This record gives sequence, C-alpha cells and structure tokens, in this order.
Amino acid sequence: MIKLSIIVGARPQFIKASALLKTIRKHFKNCLKFDLIHSGQHYDKNMSEVFFKTMQIDKPNYQITSKQSTQGAQTARMLEALEQILNKVKPHWCVVFGDTNTTLAAALAASKLHIPVAHIEAGMRSYNKTMPEEINRIFTDHCSTALFVSTKSALNNLQKEGFNLNSYPPYSINNPAIVFTGDIMYEVYLSFVEELNKSMSNYHSQEKMKNKFDIVCTIHRQENTDNEQHLYQILKAILSLAQSYRIIFPIHPRTQKIISHSDKLKKFFLSFKQNKNIHVCEPLSYEKMIQILQNVKIVLTDSGGLQKEAFFAQKPCVILRNETEWTELIHCGAATLAGANYDNIVNQTTKMIKNLPTFFPEIFGNGKTSHIICEWFISNS
Ligand code: UD1
Repeated sequence: MIKLSIIVGARPQFIKASALLKTIRKHFKNCLKFDLIHSGQHYDKNMSEVFFKTMQIDKPNYQITSKQSTQGAQTARMLEALEQILNKVKPHWCVVFGDTNTTLAAALAASKLHIPVAHIEAGMRSYNKTMPEEINRIFTDHCSTALFVSTKSALNNLQKEGFNLNSYPPYSINNPAIVFTGDIMYEVYLSFVEELNKSMSNYHSQEKMKNKFDIVCTIHRQENTDNEQHLYQILKAILSLAQSYRIIFPIHPRTQKIISHSDKLKKFFLSFKQNKNIHVCEPLSYEKMIQILQNVKIVLTDSGGLQKEAFFAQKPCVILRNETEWTELIHCGAATLAGANYDNIVNQTTKMIKNLPTFFPEIFGNGKTSHIICEWFISNS
C-alpha cells in the first residue's frame, strides 16, 4: 500500500484535490491510501468549508491553524506544523498543488525530511519574481521528485531551468521525473459540467439556471490589491463597463479587507455597490461559479484558476495582470493581458465582447489527469 500525504490549504487546492481524492476512492483504494492535511491558509466558511461540502472532500485528518497576517509568518507557522505531522505520518509521497504558501511550506518540510514531493501543476512560470506565487513555484519544483505538468509550455519552462525531461528511474530529488498529465482543474470542470447538464435537462430548470450577468469579475492578487492605484483603476473600469453590461463581482477577503482600510477606495466602492448593474457578493461556491461561467459573455480576472475555467467554458478572458503563466491562452486569442490599466481593461473588454474568440484548442490534456497521476504513483513507488 502506497501512503500519500495530500496537502491543501487554499481555495484552488480544495478544487484540485477533489479530483485526486475521488479517483483514489473510486479506482485505487486497494493500492493507494492517503492522509489529508489542511494548512488553514483559507479559513472563512465560503473559502474553505463550502468546498469540502459541495465537492465531497473527506474531512481533513490534520487541521493546522495558520491565520497569520504576513507571508513569512504564515509560511513559517505552516512549515513548523507540517514538519511535525509529516514526521509522524511518514508517507511515501507528499503531494502538493499549485503555487500558494501552503505548497511551499509543505514542499520545504517534506524535502528536508527526505520525503519525496510530488508537485501537481509543476513548471508554471510568470517570470515575475515579485509575485509570491512565482517564488513558491520555483522553490517547490526544485525540491520535488515528481513534477506533474499541465501544459506543453510548462515542460519548456522546466527544460529552460535545467530539468531533464527524459530522466529515468530511480527518481529522486536529484533526478526528478517530469510527467505530462494535463490539467487537474479541467477534469474537475468536466465532471461539474456533466452534473450541471443533467440537472438542466428540462425547460424549467434551464430557465432557472440562466443568469443575468454579462461579466464575472474577480480580483485578489497581491500585485493588484496591495497597490491602491491598481485597485482603483480596476474598480473604475468595472464601473465604466457597468454602463453597458451587468457585472457580478464576488469579492475575495483580501480585496474586501484592503478596500475597507482605504478611505479613497471605501468611498469609491460605495457608489460601486449602489450601481444597479453591479452585483457585489461573497466568494462563490465552485458549482455556482461554473454555472455563471456558462452564461456570461466574458471573464475579467487576475486569478490563474479562473482564467483556465473561462477557457474550459469557451469564454474570453481579460487578464488583470501584465503577464500570465498560461501563455497558450494568449497565443490562441482566447485571453488578453490588460494589467491594472483603466483604458486597457475597458477597451479590451469591449473589443472582445464585440468579436468573441472561437478558437479553443486542446491545451490542458484529456481530462484524465488524476488517473495518470495515480497510475504513475503505483508504477514508481
Ligand atoms: C492565495 C494564494 C494565491 C491563490 C489564492 C486563491 C499565496 C501566496 N497566494 O492568495 O496563489 O490564487 O490564495 O484564493 O499563497 N483571508 C481571510 N479569509 C480567508 C482567507 C484569507 O480573511 O478565508 C485573508 C487573510 O487573512 C489575508 C488575506 O485574506 O489577510 C489574503 O489571504 P492569503 O491566504 O494570504 O492569500 P490569498 O490572497 O487568498
């Protein structure tokens, strides 16, 4: 029996882990067993608990409390607690996802205990090291033994950093395996859309499911939230777009907090909230977000996950950043980079709505990522 410690902590990780856990339970329970460890990075009900319920994720075997206000303090708290837990559990593999502080803390704790790290969504790069996520990704990849890669550009990124794409067993931290698996979020998306389609099989439920929004917008990246001018430019652009479009704006706790601490933004946000075309709400459940995506015209976001989900739903995306890890989305014309610039956001959104992209090639694999990963563990442990 191969023992995995699966580490989650932030919203996108609950989504990614749900696919892996479901596949282990359904198809591999005789050879793979796991402990689920929650780092406590996200703790609000609608950032954490709601995902465990709607995505049928097992209750964590270990729950850490890490509500710290700074990057360093949060990572340190998680690192210390994860080291203790991993030392006790002694898994064959420590499985981490994506690019959050949880990912980094777990990768550091495990690699120093000589527990091999498996990184799901390895090789992504924005080539902007001022982002905490970029630091987290680079460090995590460089202390992993198995790098599970979502896209071809991620393979190229790893090659550029000196990883050997053709390494062969025995794998180790010094000779890691690089495995193209496709994207685990695509797999989750497909299964939720299948459920959604089943529940929309009659006219009445189709009408009920139709939403009244043209645009869904989310903001949470530090580069936008922690810069008053950036956040102001984005909010101003949303207000301007609300003259012609109906917008839903699920607000992330980080963004909410920053607005409430700035007099300028607080005042501006009030008029924003009173606008009848803008619906400000709490963070949405995954299910609700997927449902909304089916009907909007366009997505405006700085989230990596939502950029991809827009693409899965064949919707265009205006990325509220100057660079993206998912470069294929730009190359095929499905997404565009607008930064935190008022004119860019308004002009590019309007242009894309008028001329909707139609080319959505198969970039993210075949939707069987968790199977590929489980089979890999079995053949290589
Ligand atoms: C984190 C990840 C980011 C990921 C995002 C998904 C890092 C560096 N960033 O960003 O890669 O895309 O999660 O949402 O790991 N807070 C609450 N309630 C919560 C969670 C957070 O109030 O449930 C507060 C925190 O106390 C903090 C702020 O929001 O003040 C930011 O939270 P944090 O965990 O640092 O990162 P995110 O911005 O969510």
